Amino acid sequence: MAGEHNKGEQPGELDVLLETEQTFPPPPEFAAQANANDPAIYEQAAADPEGWWASWAERLEWIAPYEQVLDWSDPPFAKWFVGGRLNASANCLDRHLAAGLGDRVAIHWEAEDADDPETGEEREGGRRAVTYAELSEMTNRAAGALRGLGIGKGDVVGIYLPMLPETVAAMLACARIGAVHNVVFGGFAAASVAERMEFSGAVCLITADATLRRGQPVPMKAAVDEVAAEMPTVESILVVDRCGTDPPMTPGRDHSWSDLCAAADPDCEAEPMDSEDPLFILYTSGSTGKPKGILHTTGGYLTGVTATHRLIFDLHDETDVYWCGADVGWITGHSYIVYGPLANGATSVMYEGAPNYPAEDRWWSIIERYGVTIFYTAPTAIRACMKWGREHPEKHDLSSLRLLGSVGEPINPRAWLWYHEVIGGGRCPIVDTWWQTETGAIMITPLPGLTTTKPGSATIPFPGVEAKILDDEGKEIEQGAGTLVLTRPWPSMARTLYREDERFVETYWDRYGRETYLVGDAARRDEDGFFWIVGRIDDVINVSGHRLSTMEVESTLVSNPQVAEAAVIGVPDEMTGQAIVAFVIPEGQAPPEPEALAAELRDYVATKIGKLARPKRIVVCDDLPKTRSGKIMRRLLRDIAAGEHLGDVTTLRDPDVVRDVESRFRQQA
Ligand code: PRX
Repeated sequence: MAGEHNKGEQPGELDVLLETEQTFPPPPEFAAQANANDPAIYEQAAADPEGWWASWAERLEWIAPYEQVLDWSDPPFAKWFVGGRLNASANCLDRHLAAGLGDRVAIHWEAEDADDPETGEEREGGRRAVTYAELSEMTNRAAGALRGLGIGKGDVVGIYLPMLPETVAAMLACARIGAVHNVVFGGFAAASVAERMEFSGAVCLITADATLRRGQPVPMKAAVDEVAAEMPTVESILVVDRCGTDPPMTPGRDHSWSDLCAAADPDCEAEPMDSEDPLFILYTSGSTGKPKGILHTTGGYLTGVTATHRLIFDLHDETDVYWCGADVGWITGHSYIVYGPLANGATSVMYEGAPNYPAEDRWWSIIERYGVTIFYTAPTAIRACMKWGREHPEKHDLSSLRLLGSVGEPINPRAWLWYHEVIGGGRCPIVDTWWQTETGAIMITPLPGLTTTKPGSATIPFPGVEAKILDDEGKEIEQGAGTLVLTRPWPSMARTLYREDERFVETYWDRYGRETYLVGDAARRDEDGFFWIVGRIDDVINVSGHRLSTMEVESTLVSNPQVAEAAVIGVPDEMTGQAIVAFVIPEGQAPPEPEALAAELRDYVATKIGKLARPKRIVVCDDLPKTRSGKIMRRLLRDIAAGEHLGDVTTLRDPDVVRDVESRFRQQA
């Protein structure tokens, strides 16, 4: 958990609130207008979960109706809305055009460099209001372009793009023709992209010439070129021109996105997809070094994100301006920038860049400009804003806001209260939403018109969802801490790990049986039945709400010829929730300057995985604490990093090692 004290915020009012353990009932005016204002829905959904989810599926447009809501005859392989046919892009676009909503803005897109940072003048094209009709045309043309390249149903298409309307169109274009998108977060290194393309057998990759980072173009296409040999199945690369950098193009393989789209037909028929046909794969980190390809299918996923988005964010699509500050490259972006909001006909804001570019008030200026009413972000970002100081939000009129959301990691009560007071003006409910790439949609969360919230708790399961806390024997713990599980299937659940059915079963459905989903988090349940997420129970760490595997970082470190062995741990960090600390044993002679090696290795990890995986610290040691059987004892490394008294060291092969590592940890600070 993150530290409770942030430099920019003086102790005072917040501390008083912290001590009183105040709870926050929904404001009456909010409750009166809320989409979910009848507490009976919890009981109704629990009594008839299939009926509950079906009531949401009915709001989608089906090409052919389903015959059965749920087939759970072969757990954990669920089938939802069996026999139904639909198309996700048609549900996000065509349906709204047919309802006469073509002129409604789907995306208010704001470029990072929307204004010239020196003159303050607005750049042409720096702000785009993309209507549903325009997004539909972009999508149809892109779908036609993909079809023209011979791509069709079941083919995997990689997407490695910045936050652009084109990125949304690319995802929807895949959905339109039944291709399966595999989006890789733009902050990952090209080597990670290549790995994910190879694992999924992608036939095409859509990328950009470059991405803007703090006003500077950083090449994407050129980086992809360097790893092209490592993704032999990719036959075509489409390049979106974001920065005008004109990268070299390989004839026959590379194509300009805009040329292909311009030449394509503005109408591309939507492929009728089976409810259980794959919609996308999204790779995420697991306990081993190899990322897991989480597979989501069409009908159930769309049902889950539609229901949760409408109720949890209390979306009133005619009047709200909704902004999810995540990146489309993560599940939060897939479910709550793309599919949920668009299926619900929402008007969203999409911002391309950093929250503090060109200044620390960038987000608040966006909220003011577009009159954002619903804002969804991560605790790490809230803590960064706290550190920058409340004078930045106070420069702007944030009175349009009526609801705030949090996701990605436990939110510490201090950050919760700051968000509530300083951003929400004390009037906006906060929904702390717990979920995962695997769950597809939010699972544990307040409903803002119904739930009395407690800062730091994600509260209770969404209607139709059943969560429990189990002990090691599988007995339920009604009050207290243990292992979090979900005990009832839900429509947006992952169907498998792409091409790894066995790993899917082993990872999630082995521990407590085939019908109990092992989340991978530890949690506590309090006297009111509220859930408090404690942290991961596996080798996954959460840095700024980004999920990383310690094994992945370890195997990257040992792939460097200068490293003989490496051990990676997560340590608590005030800003990022957790931070990565690596202990490495160099190959051969110990280097005279461990700091230089550490710096080099940090860069190495950044180029191999991405900057987000760069260890905060690398400690160079002669040896690591190991058991007699040679297993590295990461628990002792965690104690060392936390400055804690070292527990039992008698099982170690060489107890002196631990003292040596401890002193190096201090020396190399
Ligand atoms: O540990 C939990 C944490 O993030 C993990 C899921 O990460 P990922 O699949 O990348 O998805 C993140 C966005 C949905 C969970 O296992 N987590 C997510 N939301 C919360 C959270 N921990 C505490 N509170 C949350 N609201």
